[in-house]
Amino acid sequence: ENAQLKDIISHAKEYGFVFPSSEIYDGLQAVYDYGQMGVELKNNLKNLWWKSMTQLHQNVVGIDASIFMHPLTWKASGHIDSFNDPMIDNKDSKKRYRADVLIEEKAAQYEADGHYDKASELLVEMGRLLGAEELDGVRELIIKEDIKCPISGTTNWTEVRQFNLMFSTQVGSVAEDSSTIYLRPETAQGIFVNFLNVQKTGRMKVPFGIAQIGKAFRNEIVARQFIFRMREFEQMEMQFFVRPGTEMEWYNTWKDNRKKWHEAIGIPADSLRYHDHEKLAHYANAAVDIEFKFPFGFKEVEGIHSRTDFDLTQHQELSRKKLQYFDNDLNEEGKPYGNYIPYVVETSVGADRLFLMTFCSAYTEEEITEGDATKTRTFLKFHPALAPVKAAILPLTKKDGLPEKATEIFNALRYDFNTIYEERDSIGKRYTRQDLIGTPFCIAVDHQTLEDNTVTVRDRDSREQVRMPISELHSYIDKAVNF
Ligand code: GAP
Repeated sequence: ENAQLKDIISHAKEYGFVFPSSEIYDGLQAVYDYGQMGVELKNNLKNLWWKSMTQLHQNVVGIDASIFMHPLTWKASGHIDSFNDPMIDNKDSKKRYRADVLIEEKAAQYEADGHYDKASELLVEMGRLLGAEELDGVRELIIKEDIKCPISGTTNWTEVRQFNLMFSTQVGSVAEDSSTIYLRPETAQGIFVNFLNVQKTGRMKVPFGIAQIGKAFRNEIVARQFIFRMREFEQMEMQFFVRPGTEMEWYNTWKDNRKKWHEAIGIPADSLRYHDHEKLAHYANAAVDIEFKFPFGFKEVEGIHSRTDFDLTQHQELSRKKLQYFDNDLNEEGKPYGNYIPYVVETSVGADRLFLMTFCSAYTEEEITEGDATKTRTFLKFHPALAPVKAAILPLTKKDGLPEKATEIFNALRYDFNTIYEERDSIGKRYTRQDLIGTPFCIAVDHQTLEDNTVTVRDRDSREQVRMPISELHSYIDKAVNF
């Protein structure tokens, strides 16, 4: 992990954004908790996404499906048969690794040393072996390339095995009646199985979308990079049901729409890029990732996938229930299009990755001069709509009626904005504390306030202060925090 990521992780912990799960027991790998500031940021992200999807698109509605689903769901979706990673264990360190990641790291090393041909040959060979499921060949490749375990430094490897990423558990009170069910590895299937329920009860006409936010679980083996890859995480997915043949048009529309959304929440355009998939998942006929420049490189934040009619066809087959839509719009011949299984374009973003992207992008260190001294100011430059706290109300002193006046202002704003009242420590220290959690506005109440009902408002990013009447505060904040 690089230095910048380390700073970000410790800042996130120190100011109540993200804690390791069950930390008093030394944590649980790849599981994290959101603290008092983190939960506000995450909720703001989720609410913005929800509003953009459902409120701003008349033809997109939301649902909230369960984490547990009928086990046949995962047979239909392909997760039971093909949601696997090739794993290899080192016999000395007893550590388990993803075989493909070990090989990719070796290829990256070749590239770093300028051996580009060797790197690409290795990747092509790996792709061929994995594609043909020649797992023994993958192990031989690891040994031939002299790939060592990062912990023990030895090449004492076991065979390569496919390892399913789904968590399973039992339902039922006694062992005999119990059956194995899975914790959903994606939220999308809750939408597919409800497709007709929503279409019929909501009288939805194709094209239309169903959005959902919810937890998903994957037994990720390579769990690194903080909250980037977790075992319990949250997805925000939207499946858009379209007439067959129009899917590429909608794929391009959503691809464009989603990148613009990331820019609108304050992510600089040059920190984002598209990455087209060359190798498509079993269900897709086109797929692209929106990647963000994390401290550890450009990595996926969101996927846009054209999933064809794969999922609905599979569910129709296994459930033996028709999952078709009757399209009574007229075609060129003046006849209704009739019954068909819609095609699906999905947008799928991880709430936690979005959180990490927003946090990394907001984390700012700048040199400032105060008198003769220069120092580093650290602050979180969140879009005001995302900031956990919108405004801090700060009486200059604890006496002369200033706390009472400040409390009055606090009470007038707190119903509409997440606001903090703070009277401890010097005003400078209080400004610094708000910078560190990314509060866009600090409202100082001083002696002049008692005379003319004006306050100073300090801007987080420029540190400039403007004086304004108390009566204008509400609309001033409201304008900034609206998305
Ligand atoms: N329904 C399609 C689907 O699940 P995916 O590319 O596997 O596609 C979509 O996941 C998004 O979910 C990713 O872009 C990422 O933001 C998030 N995600 C996936 N696995 C994750 C993990 N282990 N931890 C955190 N986020 C994850």
